[in-house]
Amino acid sequence: KENVLSTFFIGAIDQGTTSSRFIIFDGTGQPVTSHQHEFQQHYPESGWHEHDPYELVGSVRNCIRKASQSFKEIGHDIEDIKVVGLTTQRETTLVWDVETGEPLHNAIAWPDTRTKGLVRELKEKEKAEGFNIAEITGMPLSTYPSAVKLVWLLRNVPKVKEAYDAGKLAFGTVDTWLLYNLNGKEKGVFVTDSTNASRTMFVNLHTVKYDPKLLEFFDIDINKIHLPRISPSSDAEAYGRISSGPLMGMKIAGCLGDQSAALVGQQGFTPGCAKNTYGTGCFLLYNVGEKPVISKHGLLATIAYDFGRHRKPVYALEGSIAVAGSGVKFLMNNMGFITHSHKISDLAASVEDNGGLVFVTAFSGLFAPYWIDDAKGTIFGITQHTQRGHIARATLEATCFQTKAILDAMEKDSGHHLSDLAVDGGMSNSNLCMQTQANIIGIPVDRPDMHETTSLGAAIAAGFAVDIWREFDELKAINQKGRKLFTPDITPEESDKMFKKWARAVEMCRGWLD
Ligand code: G3P
Repeated sequence: KENVLSTFFIGAIDQGTTSSRFIIFDGTGQPVTSHQHEFQQHYPESGWHEHDPYELVGSVRNCIRKASQSFKEIGHDIEDIKVVGLTTQRETTLVWDVETGEPLHNAIAWPDTRTKGLVRELKEKEKAEGFNIAEITGMPLSTYPSAVKLVWLLRNVPKVKEAYDAGKLAFGTVDTWLLYNLNGKEKGVFVTDSTNASRTMFVNLHTVKYDPKLLEFFDIDINKIHLPRISPSSDAEAYGRISSGPLMGMKIAGCLGDQSAALVGQQGFTPGCAKNTYGTGCFLLYNVGEKPVISKHGLLATIAYDFGRHRKPVYALEGSIAVAGSGVKFLMNNMGFITHSHKISDLAASVEDNGGLVFVTAFSGLFAPYWIDDAKGTIFGITQHTQRGHIARATLEATCFQTKAILDAMEKDSGHHLSDLAVDGGMSNSNLCMQTQANIIGIPVDRPDMHETTSLGAAIAAGFAVDIWREFDELKAINQKGRKLFTPDITPEESDKMFKKWARAVEMCRGWLD
């Protein structure tokens, strides 16, 4: 096996909220080369957040082109890339004309809160009908899932409604849109995987199928809309082949939502394993095994991964935090505090502590475990003493506090106390942030040396589909070297005191008037 490992490579496309990437891994799970492309975020109104559908495709193609070029330059042969995996941001909603393939609107990105009013209306309907959406889908009604975004589009964009009435409307999440385009529109590849599908709110979590009761609730007529076929996350036949560019003809055999991919990349294959990924948002997934656990404490139930063939889908409890890296970007782009995201750590370290500040970074309301749609970003405790460094620190701490609230909820739902927390994603590069995280949750935080676990997860899913690996045990050596452990260095009393302040601040930022 050793010899085989060094002679093949797997490509991974990671299409996230703010950037796309293509990474080529060798058989030992080490990245050989990569390219990243940041694309434009559109905020047409306060609380609105969109992406240009063609820019998403273009950024992915650009990454594939550039990384393939450097792969060749360092002396490798494209033919040795055996297969490609795809992982994407989840919930982000796209609509297009099934005949022309033309998008009918910008993609509505997952943190967008334009559906706030609609969600209130739907919650009343849910109550009046005695319907429990969370029991079926694992998610409470909020601005987050795709279903409410699609309903908004149907009600507010005449072109979308016309296509629907004419039976020509295609709906998809980012995975579906990319696969449709990467295969070449004329092929009509129209597919999603179980993990992405489970975030739409049209899918019954227990059966992994579109549920007529849900479609009826959202007033969606199945005869008028094209919904992508749902396939396992690891599947050699479902996702087609790349139709142009340097990887022309290459098979795509893995497809997962990015948080699922990170759990796979961290090898969280055993019930009780958890990971926290600090990307644009921050998402904690806790493997609960082959039966979903519907949360009673504000978490989501979701499909963790679905490797198909003889394996059943595996479920997770999820704590979703809307703002993590996007808080850092806000300090950089809107406030001009720093010139590059990684400088946040230095700015935060320029002061000794948060100077009494708490920053509830509720730019998209607050997600798990609070689900407060009408919260707005609020800084408490500003005095003449306040410096930029304090705000930087409070921004990092906001994600750490929400992670603590999520872990508390997870413990209540699962009856299990986590012994440590595996982390990855951009903000996990900050030692200061990870030390703060360990202090606030009171358990060690465990960071792998190679942080590209999301892409690695997509590569693993693709590799399983084409039998590069057949059992999870075969992955044991991958990405285990050089892990760094952050152990708590403050007392539980100090940590409790900080968290109480945060909890008070959360209560105080409810119900902000628009
Ligand atoms: O649910 C949204 C999530 O999938 C986005 O992930 O890494 O782009 O913040 P990320």
